[in-house]
Amino acid sequence: MHPKDKNIIVTGGAHGIGQGLCRRFAAQGAARIAVVDVDAKACEAVASDIGASAYSVDISDANAFADVLEAIRAEMGHVDLFCSNAGVGYPDGAHVASASDELWEKSWRINVHAHVVAARVLLPQMLERKDGHFLITASAAGLLSQIGSASYSVTKHAAVGFAESLSIMHGDKGIGVSLLCPQGVDTRMMAAVAGGGPQAADGVISIDTLCDSVMSGLASGEFLILPHPQVADYMQYKSANYDKWLGGMRRLRDRFVE
Ligand SMILES: NC(=O)c1ccc[n+]([C@@H]2O[C@H](COP(=O)([O-])OP(=O)(O)OC[C@H]3O[C@@H](n4cnc5c(N)ncnc54)[C@H](O)[C@@H]3O)[C@@H](O)[C@H]2O)c1
Repeated sequence: MHPKDKNIIVTGGAHGIGQGLCRRFAAQGAARIAVVDVDAKACEAVASDIGASAYSVDISDANAFADVLEAIRAEMGHVDLFCSNAGVGYPDGAHVASASDELWEKSWRINVHAHVVAARVLLPQMLERKDGHFLITASAAGLLSQIGSASYSVTKHAAVGFAESLSIMHGDKGIGVSLLCPQGVDTRMMAAVAGGGPQAADGVISIDTLCDSVMSGLASGEFLILPHPQVADYMQYKSANYDKWLGGMRRLRDRFVE
């Protein structure tokens, strides 16, 4: 997958990683870009800056999100690359189950169900054309864990599971799937975590560096894109020494969570 001459949709395109991807796709000659975000003003600003179209929608509203995706596809004719990137994260509070049902529900709808809604709308035509690509932004937290946010950890694991299902069920039918799992990236989400949190332990990378990694991942067609390569070692360590890994995570917890 190379963005040149491609029709591309990016959710969460108004800020952070999504905005960076929109700008990079535009610079690399994408045919049409749809910037999708709940922040209407910032979405418009990014789109007008790069000659793209802005679509303001809250993707936690599955019906509204599906309607917007149908409208974009009708306008574009077909979608080559769907970047399912918008995401949210909330701290646990007093203990691992103390975040409200409302925050768990939002995390579920945005971090997981939005990927399902997008695939439901876009897959049939992609399968018919035997061509299409999904880039799902999960997180290293979806492969390892998120200290201090069970709702983030759980929903990002689920996003990883959905990306795997997409690839297993449709990966040899012309459907490309890339799973983006960064640790710390210099965005608003990162800035909201006091002191950077455990995800900053290996260093916070710039959006530009993240985009370099995504571009080479898309070009190579590899499923897993790890802008922080050490995450592959942590995954191996986790699967080979589960209890030791949990012990290490507890020590990391002591460094970062009061
Ligand atoms: N920044 C990091 O360190 C980091 C690390 C790993 C994974 N991620 C993931 O990367 C993705 C992008 O995060 P970011 O760091 O750029 O954060 P960000 O907060 O800068 O950007 C997230 C974007 O998603 C949009 N958004 C949020 N809820 C939405 C909704 N309901 N409907 C439509 N749009 C919505 C926001 O308006 C914003 O533009 C997320 O999925 C996040 O979980 C981030």
